[in-house]
Amino acid sequence: MTAYKQIFENNKQWIATKKATDEQFFEKMADTQKPDYLYIGCSDSRVPTNEIMGLEAGEVFVHRNIANLVPNIDLNVMSVINYAVVHLEVKHIIVCGHYNCGGVKAAMQAKDLGILNPWLRNIRDVYRLHMDELNAITDEHARYNRLVELNTQEQCINVIKTAAVQKSYVAKGFPTVHGWVYDLKNGALKDLEIDFEGVLHEIQKIYDLTGSGLMQKDTE
Ligand code: CO
Repeated sequence: MTAYKQIFENNKQWIATKKATDEQFFEKMADTQKPDYLYIGCSDSRVPTNEIMGLEAGEVFVHRNIANLVPNIDLNVMSVINYAVVHLEVKHIIVCGHYNCGGVKAAMQAKDLGILNPWLRNIRDVYRLHMDELNAITDEHARYNRLVELNTQEQCINVIKTAAVQKSYVAKGFPTVHGWVYDLKNGALKDLEIDFEGVLHEIQKIYDLTGSGLMQKDTE
């Protein structure tokens, strides 16, 4: 593990490396940001966001919390989505879960987790929504992995439910929303291939916030 003081030495080396390839690197960065991607992932230290995607500074707007959740009353994640969509005009929003997620595992324990209860309750809700599928998986580890995937999928749906995403997509044709799962054991990203158009159409039967009358059209 890196000693605390070493971090400032690392920082100096990093600055030198960046300037060696582009003398103006930091001046350019300080000017503005125009990332194409918003990434919503888990806080887990083993998932280094930019590194796993091979993206540089300035290329991805990032939000991380325990178990990559998108609760509709969380002002933090809702502000990030709103800013990324309305002001940065990101083209893609990625919710990235990961196997062996401690948050997902904690949520499945039959015990009082104190302040974590209301947060992790969101994951229990995902389990309840998919209880038949999950309970049919006999291997405990496989069931846990599947819950990680289903949680990621449900958080994508929560992103699509937001007014910012719906209105931007109707007006401009972006962003689209993607669900990924990162595998700690081999570094691979798995695309859950969320059917963005399909989910949007389905949720707008109830959650249409565009004012475009899509909900009415659907019931005609
Ligand atoms: Co995690």
